[in-house]
Amino acid sequence: MSPVKEMMMRFLKAAVFFALTFSIIAVARPAFCEDGGGKAADIIDKYSDVLGIATDKDPFSPSRIDTVTGKAVASSDFTEPDECKMCHPDIYSQWKGSMHSNSWNDPIYRALMEIASKETDGMTDRLCLGCHTPVGVISEEVPPVDGEKLSDIAAMGVFCDFCHTVTRSKGIGNLPAVSDPGSVKRGPFKDSESPFHDVEFSELHTSPEFCGMCHNVSHPISGLPIERTYSEWLYGPYFSEGVTCQDCHMTPPDPPTAFTPNPGEFCVLGPKRDHWWTHQFVGGNAVVTELLGSKKHAEYARNRLRAAATVEIIAPEESAPRPGLLQFKVKVSNVGCGHYLPTGLTEVREMWLDVSVTDGGGKELYRSGALDEAGEIGSDAVIYNTILGDEVGRPTWKVWAATQILSDYRIPPKGYRLERYAAYIPPDAEPPLKIRAALNYRSISPHLVKILLGDEAIEIPVIEMTTAETSVK
Ligand code: HEC
Ligand code: HEC
Ligand code: HEC
Ligand code: HEC
Ligand code: HEC
Repeated sequence: MSPVKEMMMRFLKAAVFFALTFSIIAVARPAFCEDGGGKAADIIDKYSDVLGIATDKDPFSPSRIDTVTGKAVASSDFTEPDECKMCHPDIYSQWKGSMHSNSWNDPIYRALMEIASKETDGMTDRLCLGCHTPVGVISEEVPPVDGEKLSDIAAMGVFCDFCHTVTRSKGIGNLPAVSDPGSVKRGPFKDSESPFHDVEFSELHTSPEFCGMCHNVSHPISGLPIERTYSEWLYGPYFSEGVTCQDCHMTPPDPPTAFTPNPGEFCVLGPKRDHWWTHQFVGGNAVVTELLGSKKHAEYARNRLRAAATVEIIAPEESAPRPGLLQFKVKVSNVGCGHYLPTGLTEVREMWLDVSVTDGGGKELYRSGALDEAGEIGSDAVIYNTILGDEVGRPTWKVWAATQILSDYRIPPKGYRLERYAAYIPPDAEPPLKIRAALNYRSISPHLVKILLGDEAIEIPVIEMTTAETSVK
């Protein structure tokens, strides 16, 4: 058995032991457990989501996804995006090329998912596949993880007819959606009518809980929070102000972060509406969007990153001592995100400060955050990310093997971080001294992309989100 599988089995055994103990307590104190609580098997059924095991009652576990009947459905019960395109062409072209349309084809995802599958003997398969190929899981076309049995429609990832036939959600995280494919398309309007399909108003679709089904990811056994975009939003200022995920991510991408009214028709047959929601779902991914053929979506992502933060240099007014230390601060503020910056897969994303001091003659006196020859960020840099740790406390990017968060240093919504710097200024430094600070973003490090994609590794661009400059005598 691989060490990871062994660890998972150990967790599982502990969980079963816990379930058995719990059932003994429940039998001894009937009032404690209102639903009878008798057998361990019942408890395992009930908590199969948490335990991460598939049971007859829950064939899609450890994903929490379900269907109205609790049984598998045929992928042909869903309608192809191409059919929706006939009447909703604008929405189609916004979605096509978005990360939702790439969620199965994304090579970075596929590589990590296949490693996870190997190292856990398949225990993570339906978990990962659930959010990235929901229809593949409920039609039991995946696993196998290589997609050999996957139909063309399920390979569309997170597509129109999956989202619009979700009938309810059982909670937040690990995809607790109940899928009900068929003629009823659920959406935000109370008065729409269509000749092609039935329509139903769905409050769920108008609320961030819809996004929260997938945009909170937990380790199904240890419960370790892996992605927390929804919770970060929920406990932040935008929730209190009533600004939703849809307000920022389903709004025209220009300007990049503010809600923009979008009047017009969303259907070639439909009436003019005061507002309808766009489907670009712009985030920070300018790599896979472009790789899979949408320069437009990559450009949206770059613009959004540029609008997400500001940097400001706080330097002394008096001239710098020569020789001596020039001390200054850099303030990085999250001005555009409804959640932490960065968010999502933060153990993989890289956001860091590149700070330099040069003298009047152009000589570099100080640098923190430059890339080394291999393209990695220097160890002296201020990096905003999360570092996950395995059982013995070693840093790991293998989310399935992670049992702890070793560090989480990011910027909360509407919050800021102040970084302190001290640069040695030699006696002959020419005035004026120029301080420059750049905030950079990269989807993944060159080192990790090489491990994941091998010879197919792609170049990962550094996106300069924002910069500031100031001079000191
Ligand atoms: C990730 C899930 C998701 C995907 C994929 C998706 N939609 Fe939507 N769609 C939504 C949500 C959520 C709303 C409502 C947003 C709100 O009210 O805040 C919506 C709104 C709509 C509406 C109502 C008009 C509007 O835009 O406000 C139509 C029509 C629609 N979508 C069609 C489509 C089509 C066609 C596709 C595929 C090309 C698609 N959707 C893909 C989630 C999705
Ligand atoms: C023959 C044309 C046609 C096709 C094809 C079509 N729709 Fe529609 N759809 C409409 C019309 C018309 C409306 C109502 C427009 C309005 O009220 O402004 C509509 C409305 C919607 C709504 C809004 C429902 C609400 O109550 O908020 C959703 C969601 C939707 N369609 C999804 C889809 C999806 C998903 C597909 C593909 C599986 C699709 N549509 C294919 C014509 C079509
Ligand atoms: C069925 C699961 C699912 C639902 C529901 C869902 N998403 Fe996603 N979303 C994903 C997956 C999976 C990805 C990433 C695909 C990848 O990177 O391979 C993603 C990617 C994104 C991205 C792009 C991230 C980037 O790095 O550029 C944004 C933005 C986003 N989603 C917003 C939303 C919003 C807003 C909603 C609610 C209206 C929503 N999503 C609902 C699964 C979902
Ligand atoms: C106030 C506007 C705002 C709100 C509200 C908001 N976002 Fe974002 N979001 C942004 C901006 C700006 C970025 C780009 C910076 C980044 O990538 O972290 C972003 C990035 C993302 C990303 C990509 C992260 C990455 O870099 O890989 C995802 C996924 C996402 N948002 C999902 C959501 C979801 C889900 C919600 C609701 C729970 C939400 N957002 C609410 C503005 C917002
Ligand atoms: C609850 C839903 C959910 C589950 C379960 C899930 N993911 Fe994701 N995944 C997402 C969302 C949402 C994003 C986008 C976040 C972002 O952009 O930072 C994402 C993004 C990713 C990315 C980034 C892709 C890129 O191009 O940068 C990788 C890699 C990935 N997931 C791998 C996995 C693996 C491996 C598993 C199983 C161990 C898994 N995911 C399970 C929802 C999920």
